Amino acid sequence: MNAPEFFDAPDRSTTAEALAKEFRDVFGVGPAGVWSAPGRVNLIGEHVDYTGGLCLPLALPHRTFVALRPRTDGVVHVRSLQEAGGQVDVDLSSVGAGSPTGWAAYVAGVPWALQQRGLAGEVLSGGFDAVVDGHVPYGSGLSSSAALECAVAIALGELAGAPLDDAGRAALAGACQLAENVVAGAATGGMDQAASLRCHEGGAILLDTDDDSVTQVALDLAGAGLALLVVDTRAEHSHAGGEYGKRRADVERAAQLLGVPNLRGVDPAGLDEALDRVGAEPDGEVLRRRVRHAVTEIDRVRRTAQLLQAGKASRIGDLLDASHDSLRDDYEVSCRELDLTVDVARAEGALGARMTGGGFGGSAIALVPADRVGAVADAVAAAFAAQALAAPRFLTALPAEGAGRDL
Ligand code: GLA
Repeated sequence: MNAPEFFDAPDRSTTAEALAKEFRDVFGVGPAGVWSAPGRVNLIGEHVDYTGGLCLPLALPHRTFVALRPRTDGVVHVRSLQEAGGQVDVDLSSVGAGSPTGWAAYVAGVPWALQQRGLAGEVLSGGFDAVVDGHVPYGSGLSSSAALECAVAIALGELAGAPLDDAGRAALAGACQLAENVVAGAATGGMDQAASLRCHEGGAILLDTDDDSVTQVALDLAGAGLALLVVDTRAEHSHAGGEYGKRRADVERAAQLLGVPNLRGVDPAGLDEALDRVGAEPDGEVLRRRVRHAVTEIDRVRRTAQLLQAGKASRIGDLLDASHDSLRDDYEVSCRELDLTVDVARAEGALGARMTGGGFGGSAIALVPADRVGAVADAVAAAFAAQALAAPRFLTALPAEGAGRDL
């Protein structure tokens, strides 16, 4: 077996400078600037951001860059260094539900959504030229699409003179989520965009999706002798989009049955009673499990944040484990590759391990003693090889800075 492949983030300023040069080569003139936005990994709080829950994501050092220059004719010309298909041209007047399709939705959907939200300046309706360079592993559940949206949003927001404090970033994140929901047609919550725009280096954010507030939570894993290993299982599940929507529909119906706006409204102390009530429905057994996941997961996030705030990072492992078990058994969004990763990581000395992101494939995280990173990665890679699964790839997550200007 070959040594496990680690997916490192390239140097930020070198990448930005190379992209500015690329832009000049393509469009014959320099960009107005280069901006970038990170992918994210969620420490805990999964599948609760569309039901008013809490989550605890951190930004990755892996970013998507965009070099951009405003136009005045209402057209977007965009090229991606990762797409062989050449330039995509989109007339902004044609942007709306389901249009354009493909990766251009995450670019052209953003000025459309900024306008819908009343965040648009003149610069936004004029269109732009852009070249995109993505370094967030694609299709890995690490939010490469949010990184692309947020890089475009921070560029346009800054050029339009929008405030870029946390409140301004929250507004941009909301617009990016709207672009994803309507233009790209994916009914996601807002965690990924909030993480990409509102995180700071050295910490995670405790995101309260009920009121959109954020609390910065310092995450000094290295100081505690720990590392957060991310395993991209390379497992892709084509039905994932439909299953995500079904889970969302389940919790929305459960909230309705319980007479609350969302499942944040169910107090953990009242969980048994809530379970009895939804359990009386014809599909009560499924609803019971969905509600149990959401309510217990939100409580685990609260407890994880408290431990981190008390400087006790080494004690969150059991909560990570319980989160995975709940996502696997009650929410049913895990898969063989994710479960294998988690089992092997735990057996090799991880303090805790869980799937992260939407699931059905994608990535898992393992909180490991810093000197066990290599051993855990070796063991996971060996287990995949033994089961004839495609080789997973790895990265270590150091909490990085949210979206911003590079050049
Ligand atoms: C995806 C979605 C997020 C969130 C997670 C699960 O990443 O984009 O909004 O729902 O799944 O926590």
